[in-house]
Amino acid sequence: MAYRSLREFLERLEKSGELVRVKDPVDPVLEMAALADRAAKQGGPALLFESPRGASGSLPVAMNLFGTRRRTSWALSCEDFEDHAAELRALLRTAPPQGIWEKLRMLPKLGKLASMAPKRVGSGACQEIVERDPDLAKLPILTTWPHDGGPFLTLPQVITRDPETGIRNVGMYRLQVLGPRKLAMHWQLHKTATAHYRGYKKRGERMPVAIALGGDPALTYCASAPLPPGVDEYLMAGFLRGEAVRLVRGVTVELEVPADADLVIEGFVDPAASLVREGPFGDHTGYYSLADDYPFLEVTAVTRRQGAVYPATVVGPPPMEDYWLGVATERLFLPLLQMLFPEIADMAFPAEGCFHNLCFLSIRKDYPGHARKLMHGLWGSGQMANTKTLVVFDEDVDIHDFSQCAWRALANVDAKRDLIVVEGPVDVLDHAAPAFALGAKVGVDATRKWQEEGGREWPEPCVHAPELLARMDALYQRLVPGAASPRRARIPVPPAASWTPRKGTA
Ligand SMILES: Cc1cc2nc3c(=O)[nH]c(=O)nc-3n(C[C@H](O)[C@H](O)[C@H](O)COP(=O)(O)O)c2cc1C
Repeated sequence: MAYRSLREFLERLEKSGELVRVKDPVDPVLEMAALADRAAKQGGPALLFESPRGASGSLPVAMNLFGTRRRTSWALSCEDFEDHAAELRALLRTAPPQGIWEKLRMLPKLGKLASMAPKRVGSGACQEIVERDPDLAKLPILTTWPHDGGPFLTLPQVITRDPETGIRNVGMYRLQVLGPRKLAMHWQLHKTATAHYRGYKKRGERMPVAIALGGDPALTYCASAPLPPGVDEYLMAGFLRGEAVRLVRGVTVELEVPADADLVIEGFVDPAASLVREGPFGDHTGYYSLADDYPFLEVTAVTRRQGAVYPATVVGPPPMEDYWLGVATERLFLPLLQMLFPEIADMAFPAEGCFHNLCFLSIRKDYPGHARKLMHGLWGSGQMANTKTLVVFDEDVDIHDFSQCAWRALANVDAKRDLIVVEGPVDVLDHAAPAFALGAKVGVDATRKWQEEGGREWPEPCVHAPELLARMDALYQRLVPGAASPRRARIPVPPAASWTPRKGTA
């Protein structure tokens, strides 16, 4: 089910008891963020602040929209995002058997996707109200942490175009309000909009930018998705929502914007202008990212729909709402990564790793050094290149169980043999790196070691046969009614075929 507005999504949440309306006056400065943080950390409801306090109280503010797996799935028009992953896997199988990038380029022409390409329409609700001399102070833009440099837009869809190819990009980059019509553009070094900015700078041209807020939440998610440059985020949104995204031309920029967005900010970045100081900002890492220099946008218009809702999030010490956006990416991009690396059985980004700091992988290991081959491959693939710690397990490890991963990794790793440290680009937000965006990454091979890899006789984990376990669990439940599920049940049971203790190499 595609949503025609953010309000339509909010109505669905409200009907299902997933939305709380906050009628009390709450301040966009710190108070909203603190309340939403609490809701996110407890898997609580989405919040609609109906009375933002202060002069900027013109629009209601929606927060914690993506705060649980269920709501994020609903936001992507499905019951669980594994459904989309299965569909994507099937679609990739039907694509001609070329390389992964050719397949990706072919996708828009295939099956259901062919009709999901964004559609240009003549008019849209996002332009029901047009302000050509706007004042950003009238919007309820949040300050989320005490030492932030000011108010920031935190859930924007930043739309830019490659000046050479004309291909659109939509990225989620926070934007700091520096004046009534001035925004600092925090597109980081490795991101697509930064490449576009470099292109405009080389040509000596002003860069048109549009920032959409709200509309169908699938569009908001897609802005955060790590699609390769050249693959349109709004095509992905069309695929997820089962209906093409409708676009209208901006009122002051030659860019298309989502017709059903709640709000659109338009303007130009002049690459010849000096950079401005951006930040500090309480960030995904749970720490403040330090102030740094970024380009700025001169706003030329703000357009919005009647009854617009302003969407926002707060990032910070995990777990927070953005964890669920990360889980959606983990599930939806696994089929794509498996095309490149068929040995991957599963992938997990634990909340504590704040996405770039930690990735667990389980693999079907076929040869000595297989885990290392995968690590190097991933460190050369798009935004995976910024992953600071990669831990590779055998296929029988449930990598979504952090406790099990700690047990297996600590037991299976010899520090001298099984750790590799490489140097290269790291996430811009990594404050531990010795230089800006450049540092070390560690790979941990937690698989069982074959003899060729220096493994001696390798023991099996202790597990009972499944049938015996089931009988004893039933008996225990009778003896101790209401007992919680036993912890050992989370230890994987080897499949029946391999249920004979093995020795040495796999
Ligand atoms: C809530 C949220 C805020 C984000 N803020 C930024 C940001 O300020 N700057 C940035 O470069 N990336 C930020 N990201 C990550 C990008 O959105 C992500 O890397 C995306 O894939 C970039 O798109 P691109 O590959 O089209 O550049 C943020 C992600 C989320 C979920």
